[in-house]
Amino acid sequence: MQIFREIHPFRAFLLEKRLSGQSIGFVPTMGALHRGHLQIVRTSLNENQVTVCSIFVNPTQFNNPQDLLKYPRTLEADVAALEKEGCDVLFCPDVEVMYKQESLIRFDFGPLDKVMEGTFRPGHFSGVALVVSKLLHIVEPAVAYFGQKDWQQFAIIRQLVNDLNFNVELKSIPTVREESGLAMSSRNMRLTPAQRQKALLLFTSLNEAKQLLLNGSEIQKVKERISSLFKNEPELKLEYFEIVNSENLKPLECVEDAVNPILCVAAFVGEVRLIDNLFLY
Ligand code: PAF
Repeated sequence: MQIFREIHPFRAFLLEKRLSGQSIGFVPTMGALHRGHLQIVRTSLNENQVTVCSIFVNPTQFNNPQDLLKYPRTLEADVAALEKEGCDVLFCPDVEVMYKQESLIRFDFGPLDKVMEGTFRPGHFSGVALVVSKLLHIVEPAVAYFGQKDWQQFAIIRQLVNDLNFNVELKSIPTVREESGLAMSSRNMRLTPAQRQKALLLFTSLNEAKQLLLNGSEIQKVKERISSLFKNEPELKLEYFEIVNSENLKPLECVEDAVNPILCVAAFVGEVRLIDNLFLY
């Protein structure tokens, strides 16, 4: 696997690949790679001649400095895992490489970033849009892959790419789960074994809500039920449980009229903030 830390030689390398007709698949990450990431890398390897993974813990998308500080960094293990998977190229720049000057640009995605993660993490999606724009300009991939666990992020990146005519196809890859059902996340590394057990409530509450909705329960009643489940667990703090239209992220009052509803949850397990989601159908 070729590893690049600087933009210029990385671009020159990729230009040659593109000129020789090779399609580039891109998997942007913040590292601390788990089986979910590797599944995405595998998908790209199957669909493209060259697969590029990036590892960059992007400071502009962290609204909480403690979260940035504590975000797991496991570069050596990540490199080994990518090598084993057969990934072709890794781009792992330092902050100074990605942000040569203080960025003054800010993104506003209107209704897409005024719900769920956007409400609880002000500025987060502006930082995501900024770094994804930079990465797409640097890599110029044919296809870029993202995990379904960050569904709101995917919806926002899709808006960004369409608004700014980025020449890239976007793909969302289904969430990989541990045997217990817990969604794979780099943040799971920070959970104690007991917290890992408690964290399962995110997935079980999504499933319970899904069943209730499919059996005809009203959204408001379902939300009350889920909120009571979290209240019974002192170590968990529910931030939101929303049922939204998966295209425009509008919170729904009834599921009947919605095209493709998705259930989304965010909660703290101790100090660790986790998210998960499930499509209704
Ligand atoms: O989903 C992530 O890991 C990050 O938000 C991304 C897309 C790599 C941007 O930093």
